[in-house]
Amino acid sequence: MHETILIIDFGSQYTQLIARRVRELNVYSEIHPYNKIPVPGENVKGVILSGSPFSVRDKEAPVPDLTYIKGKLPILGICYGAQYLAHCYGGEVLPSDTREYGKAMFSVSDVNDLLFRGIDSPTRVWMSHGDTIVKIPENYIITGSTHNIRIASFRIADEKTWGIQFHPEVFHTTQGKTIIANFVKEICGCAGDWTPESFIDSSIKEIKEKTRGEKIILGLSGGVDSTVAAVLLNKAVGDNLLCIFVDNGLLRKDEFKRVLTTYKNIGLNVKGVDASEDFLGALDGISDPELKRKTIGRIFIEVFEREAKKIKDVKWLAQGTIYPDVIESASVNSPASTIKSHHNVGGLPEKMNLKIIEPLRLLFKDEVRKVGKSLGIPVELTGRHPFPGPGLAIRIIGPVTREKLDILREADQIFIEELKKRSLYDKVWQAGVILLPVRSVGVMGDERTYENVVVIRAVESIDGMTADFSRLPWDFLANVANEIINRVKGINRVAYDISSKPPSTIEWE
Ligand code: XMP
Repeated sequence: MHETILIIDFGSQYTQLIARRVRELNVYSEIHPYNKIPVPGENVKGVILSGSPFSVRDKEAPVPDLTYIKGKLPILGICYGAQYLAHCYGGEVLPSDTREYGKAMFSVSDVNDLLFRGIDSPTRVWMSHGDTIVKIPENYIITGSTHNIRIASFRIADEKTWGIQFHPEVFHTTQGKTIIANFVKEICGCAGDWTPESFIDSSIKEIKEKTRGEKIILGLSGGVDSTVAAVLLNKAVGDNLLCIFVDNGLLRKDEFKRVLTTYKNIGLNVKGVDASEDFLGALDGISDPELKRKTIGRIFIEVFEREAKKIKDVKWLAQGTIYPDVIESASVNSPASTIKSHHNVGGLPEKMNLKIIEPLRLLFKDEVRKVGKSLGIPVELTGRHPFPGPGLAIRIIGPVTREKLDILREADQIFIEELKKRSLYDKVWQAGVILLPVRSVGVMGDERTYENVVVIRAVESIDGMTADFSRLPWDFLANVANEIINRVKGINRVAYDISSKPPSTIEWE
């Protein structure tokens, strides 16, 4: 049992960020919706109350049951969390004259406060609130203020409870990391036992105990999550893990062969299945993006089931589900327990009577990469850009054909290789090429051409939820365009996508 910080979620967009900041200190954190707070075990060392889109004065404002927490464990209330601690215990919270959003200078008025140890005064913080605490309960002490807000932070005199109006978890709060570290380490006394190595050790033990020598199957996609899940399971159960890697005909150039070889080289018991005919046949004539996705999902299940049935006595289905999917499915905003469709091998476990095992369900993406590195997985696998499950099918606008796939594969390979040559691959979060259903006029030598247009896309992101287009050097882009037009038959024009997400998305479909 790792030392744990519980994070109570009131629906703030920053809740996951709080959890990540705590984990960056090598302390395990767990997010729970405000209406499903577990009774804390001995391993829980402290509790953080998140922000919220609600006002504490709203009729439908989230109200947590803190019976086992308040006065018993250290608490840090952030924004709504702080307002809740003031409002519900005899203080007063009123609407601000103007919604305060953005940077503010925060001055510490109690220099002995443990929460602000080592913090400059004033220090830059990030505010985002429509309400202000105007009066605190009797036994509360004001510990800091800003130009606009008298009560920007407080603590309760006879309790280990703190409240801050600003957001320490966001990057713009310059010393936010120190404030969170003060809470987690100084106040809650966490030593920091959450490391990739300790995660690997405890997971291996847990997997062994759970599966007791029974066979497990897992679908490998070539992506980081399923790869790390496979290597971890393989360390725990050896060849009792059987992996299936399906070629859906929508992968990048030579990817299936290359990745299959790497999987075998790292000792995985893996079967490669070429099912490209099944997928391309089913996709014939389909233009609608969602229908493409559904078709690919359906065929994947058919193929996977067919292959899985060939293996006798399988009892477990392993999935590469990660923590954001788990939180999403149990979040304040979507209480329904649905896992993202591409992680759920739709109905297969029930049909085949399989139990589910998800060894990465506690990890954020960056932690999956760290665990992968610690497991010795080659960076060729752990350092790869994300790639969508439906593959190149959603990068061909309109119907997917073999001819278009071939054109796109060549262009995509040139772009990715050039990124690697110029050491830009690791600086970009995701990159790829999109083939448009548009032809344009060009001139090559003395001849007029009338051929396809491709768009190159490269983005910076942390988790794919938001993204900004990469500012790649002009000379680099010019060279990529030149290489693609000269080397790929059927393309005579290259455009660069300079849209960010939101309002655009990373993929075009
Ligand atoms: P968007 O286009 O929504 O993409 O900005 C965000 C991230 O998700 C990937 N993506 C998918 N991954 N199945 C997947 O497994 C899908 O249907 C799918 N659609 C988008 C996308 O590549 C990016 O990393």
